[in-house]
Amino acid sequence: MNNWVVYLFVVVSIYACGSKDASKNESSVSSSEAKPKVDGAAVYKANCELCHGVDGKLGLNGSKDLTVSELDLNERIAQISKGKGLMIAYENILSLSEIKAVAEYTMLLSK
Ligand code: HEC
Repeated sequence: MNNWVVYLFVVVSIYACGSKDASKNESSVSSSEAKPKVDGAAVYKANCELCHGVDGKLGLNGSKDLTVSELDLNERIAQISKGKGLMIAYENILSLSEIKAVAEYTMLLSK
C-alpha cells in the first residue's frame, strides 16, 4: 500500500517536471521573436529615452547613437550595468532581467 503511494508520487512528479520542461521549450522556441517577460521598451522609455531618444539616435550628453552601435548583447548588458562616461550604472537601479530586456530592446533599434 505504502509503496503504491510512493510510486504514484514519483510518477506524478516526473509528469510534473516533464510538462514543465515542455512548456519551457515551447516558450523558448517562440521567444526568439516574442517579447521577454520584462517589457524592454517600457524600461527604455522610463530610463534611457532621456539621453538616447525614442529611436536611439538623440545622442544627448554625448551618448552614442544606439542604431549604429556595434556592441553585442553581452557588451550592452555590461555597459548598462556598469555605466560609461556620462551614462550612469544601472545595476543598482534595474534588476538583471530588466537590464537584459532593455539591452535586447536596444538591439532592435538598429534594425
Ligand atoms: C545620462 C544620459 C544617459 C542615459 C539616461 C542613458 N545613457 Fe546610454 N549612453 C550615454 C552615453 C554618454 C554613452 C556613451 C558612453 C561612452 O562611450 O563614453 C552611452 C552609451 C550607451 C551604449 C553603448 C553604445 C555604444 O555603441 O558604445 C548603450 C548600449 C547604451 N548607452 C544603452 C543605454 C540604456 C539601455 C539606457 C537605459 C537603461 C541608457 N543607455 C541610458 C548616456 C546615457
